[in-house]
Amino acid sequence: MKASTSTTPSSVPVAHKAPLPPSSSRSSRIAPHSHIKGLGLNAEGRAITDTAAGGFVGQENAREACGIIVDLVKSRRFSGRALLLVGAPGTGKTALACAVSHELGSKVPFCPMVGSEVYSTEVKKTEVLAESFRRAIGLRIKETKEVYEGEVTEMTPSESENPLSGYGKTISHVIVGLKSVKGTKQLRLDPSIYEAMLKEKIVVGDVIYIEHSGAVKRVGRSDAYASSYDLESETYVPLPKGDVHKRKELVQDVTLGDLDAANARPQGGQDIMSVMGSLVKTGRTEVTEKLRKEVNKVVKGYVDQGVAEIVPGVVFIDEVHMLDIECFTYLNALLESPMAPTVIFATNRGNALVRGTQDLVSPHGIPVDLLDRCMIVKTEPYTKEQVAKVLQLRANIEGLKLAEGVLDKLATEGERSSLRYALQLLAPASIIASINDRAEISLEDVGEMNELFLDAKTSAAMISASENP
Ligand SMILES: Nc1ncnc2c1ncn2[C@@H]1O[C@H](COP(=O)(O)OP(=O)(O)OP(=O)(O)O)[C@@H](O)[C@H]1O
Ligand SMILES: [Mg+2]
Repeated sequence: MKASTSTTPSSVPVAHKAPLPPSSSRSSRIAPHSHIKGLGLNAEGRAITDTAAGGFVGQENAREACGIIVDLVKSRRFSGRALLLVGAPGTGKTALACAVSHELGSKVPFCPMVGSEVYSTEVKKTEVLAESFRRAIGLRIKETKEVYEGEVTEMTPSESENPLSGYGKTISHVIVGLKSVKGTKQLRLDPSIYEAMLKEKIVVGDVIYIEHSGAVKRVGRSDAYASSYDLESETYVPLPKGDVHKRKELVQDVTLGDLDAANARPQGGQDIMSVMGSLVKTGRTEVTEKLRKEVNKVVKGYVDQGVAEIVPGVVFIDEVHMLDIECFTYLNALLESPMAPTVIFATNRGNALVRGTQDLVSPHGIPVDLLDRCMIVKTEPYTKEQVAKVLQLRANIEGLKLAEGVLDKLATEGERSSLRYALQLLAPASIIASINDRAEISLEDVGEMNELFLDAKTSAAMISASENP
């Protein structure tokens, strides 16, 4: 998670003393919003202000407004409506959307996109929007099935000489031991199931269940193997209750977008997506409006039978002013469809030309008929204290130490240009610090950086000065 701060021997050329780039493994990525863990609201839905709850500083109004949206989405009362976040660049609109997605949890679909994503040369603009909307509608499928569930205590493939080929052995069967609270069971399984287990990367100590069809699912790692790391991607689960062989209610969450894709390219197999991928009998390879309608029909049948339940989620369209008039018109139609998700837009434009028109100037570059459907929330600019708090949060999460006075200096920079600029300075400052063999970022490092880099206002002023001497 931390960029390595260890210093290499002093004989190594300076350029090589920079910390190694974070490796690509998931836990070590520090994304711009990774300090945001939620909206930081209390039980009454008010913003917590004394601590940086959820990783958020200030922006109380916008956070509370988003909290209301989260409640409405969870109680399924905001479908087909839209929230518009407006505010100056770097005031936390995208961060708010991240917090909303955290608050909704992993079971409610959240589909983020950027306005400019619609301009693909391969797919129609409206198709891109339609797909995002489908990805934001979840379907929760409940079935009761007979399964074997437990913690894996052993996995022993038994090999036998293959009489057909001269060399090599083949796996004839696998012995898998499963343990639950009530007992243990040894299963003798077909090699194909062993293959499925290897595919799911199952090892001894994992909690799994095996359906009668042979589908294997990993639930998580058993509690007994819990490690002492503070941060980890693993989910730990208790030993399953009851017998190993039992009837279990299985809940699967998929989105309509997943179903469309699976039915357009049926795969065959035993897992849920392959089964769901043969809902509609077609040899299609493309998601068309017709296919969507057919999928809708089957889904509606499931809902009517009580097998499945629709879970409307959220589509987040960042930089919404990048959409053009065709997209906006289509959005109106999408918002009116019976299975519409909640939509959150964000933009940092004031009055702007609506793209795709010659002279239609409208607030935020959005036509008025769509604006009419939006509730608008504004993010506020930050004070120096707030910039300092966010900087401190980021320094903590990036594992950087700041010497006395550095926070104040960077916060002043942030107040002068923007919060994002100040945040951006942290990483290069830490590299200069490590080149200078310092474990913490000092005022000198920040000074040195100001010699190397310019902020936007200074650079623009210098260029215009040289253009008109
Ligand atoms: N109130 C806040 N508390 C903590 N971190 C914040 C806050 N506001 C913004 N940030 C962080 O500051 C950076 C810039 O914010 P963000 O990207 O959300 O701005 P934005 O409003 O989306 O800007 P733009 O209009 O340019 O897209 C991000 O790293 C974000 O996580
Ligand atoms: Mg943004």
